[in-house]
Amino acid sequence: MMQTNENAIEHIPVTEPERQYYFIEKCKDYVRKISEELRRPLTAAVITFGCQMNARDSEKLTGILEKIGYTMIDQEEKADFVIYNTCTVRENANQRVYGRLGQLNRVKRKNPHMLIGLCGCMMQEPHVVEKLKKSYRFVDLIFGTHNIYKFAEVLATRFESERMVIDIWKDTDRIVEDLPSERKYSFKSGVNIMFGCNNFCSYCIVPYVRGRERSRNPRDIIREIENLAADGVKEVMLLGQNVNSYGKTLEEPMTFAELLREVEKIDGLERIRFMTSHPKDLSDELIEVMRTSKKICHHLHLPVQSGSTEILKKMNRRYTKEQYLELVHKIREAVPDISLTTDIIVGFPQETEEDFEETLDVVRKVRYDSAFTFIYSKRTGTPAAVMEGQVPEDVVKDRFDRLLKEVQTIASEECAKHEGTIQTALVEQVNEHDPSLVTGRLGNNLLVHFPGTKEQIGKLIDVKLLECKGFYYIGEAVEK
Ligand code: SAH
Ligand code: SF4
Ligand code: F3S
Repeated sequence: MMQTNENAIEHIPVTEPERQYYFIEKCKDYVRKISEELRRPLTAAVITFGCQMNARDSEKLTGILEKIGYTMIDQEEKADFVIYNTCTVRENANQRVYGRLGQLNRVKRKNPHMLIGLCGCMMQEPHVVEKLKKSYRFVDLIFGTHNIYKFAEVLATRFESERMVIDIWKDTDRIVEDLPSERKYSFKSGVNIMFGCNNFCSYCIVPYVRGRERSRNPRDIIREIENLAADGVKEVMLLGQNVNSYGKTLEEPMTFAELLREVEKIDGLERIRFMTSHPKDLSDELIEVMRTSKKICHHLHLPVQSGSTEILKKMNRRYTKEQYLELVHKIREAVPDISLTTDIIVGFPQETEEDFEETLDVVRKVRYDSAFTFIYSKRTGTPAAVMEGQVPEDVVKDRFDRLLKEVQTIASEECAKHEGTIQTALVEQVNEHDPSLVTGRLGNNLLVHFPGTKEQIGKLIDVKLLECKGFYYIGEAVEK
């Protein structure tokens, strides 16, 4: 009988993604062994805290976990392996992570096989990792945003060492393609077109935790979307922190509008969305592509952040109130039925009542179909964190409430304008409260609930919008 030689040097591939497939196989062996011991399959839960980009990363983690042999579940208390994919854009996101980690520790004490992994934007902040090392010793693995593709390798290291494994990179210029990924929905998918951000808005931590801007090669993007479309995907959301600067740093530069023209040609794909657009880089060429496209949804998320030119300057947004309004005017001229949504921050350092009134003025002039409103959150390491004139909490709270009221009133008035029209909805799910209804999303991003069956999920169906319920519709399917 041949004996295995313990000292044989294993051949570990040095190129990616082959190296990660090697570690996936290694992890698979470990999972199989533990599973045989316990005489049950091992389960894993990935919990996402952040934006669409984080959600997309979670799909990649899920793809790898499934390959390794884990059964995916939603409840973290019941999982053998829990991963928190974290966000650090505002302080409350961080607090939620620490809170839930505390609870998870109690669960882990009862299940010694349990593994806890942390990744995502929070892990790119050195003070966070210090705190975890000191007070959260029960965490098993920690990795960052730049080396997420190395997940299987980090996990294999943990299986071998039985100790906390930390692997964080400061930055990266590489993009690893062709790793597994498991979509949450069969009919729609996010597609990364770029990573990182170079804008350094003075309040924002993203450029520090996601690194420098890098665009994916257009051929890789098109190939991915072609495969998705062949697999039944009807709608894609092109993702980047600032999609309007896509392609500028490629070896053969290409504009975002040019990329959209290529995506439009893909057979089987019916809808194209993208986010986020920075107003400073939104080109006439893009407006023209939106005007003529048959597939790009008539919805644009255009974060304004503040209506005060003074504050915008301090935020380093590089546009004025007037330039923003002019841009909105141009877009509406070209695409009259466009739905506009935005992000607004209240209480940026030195924001006065007059500055805030300017924000309200923009809200009233643009009449957003919906807006995300945020209370300014101080992020350590950003220029705004050390600015003088931080606004007192009660003042911010008062402004926030006034803004929210204005935004909601206008949004429901805008929503009501569609009553009686027939629009196409992509059916996403059976209604959570009433199983005789299905829920579909319109091109303008509004939701409509109408009588239907689960067989309609993933189909585009024409729906008459009967009754506006403030932010969504009740409707009925109509024959084409
Ligand atoms: N790249 C996107 C936004 C990413 S973060 C863009 O530029 O539009 C999403 C939103 O979070 C931002 O638009 C902003 O409104 C909000 N945000 C970012 N940093 C914040 C902070 N420090 N405090 C409060 N809100 C913040
Ligand atoms: Fe943050 Fe500004 Fe970059 Fe958006 S564009 S991610 S707000 S720095
Ligand atoms: Fe949060 Fe990171 Fe997205 S900080 S908003 S998850 S890029």
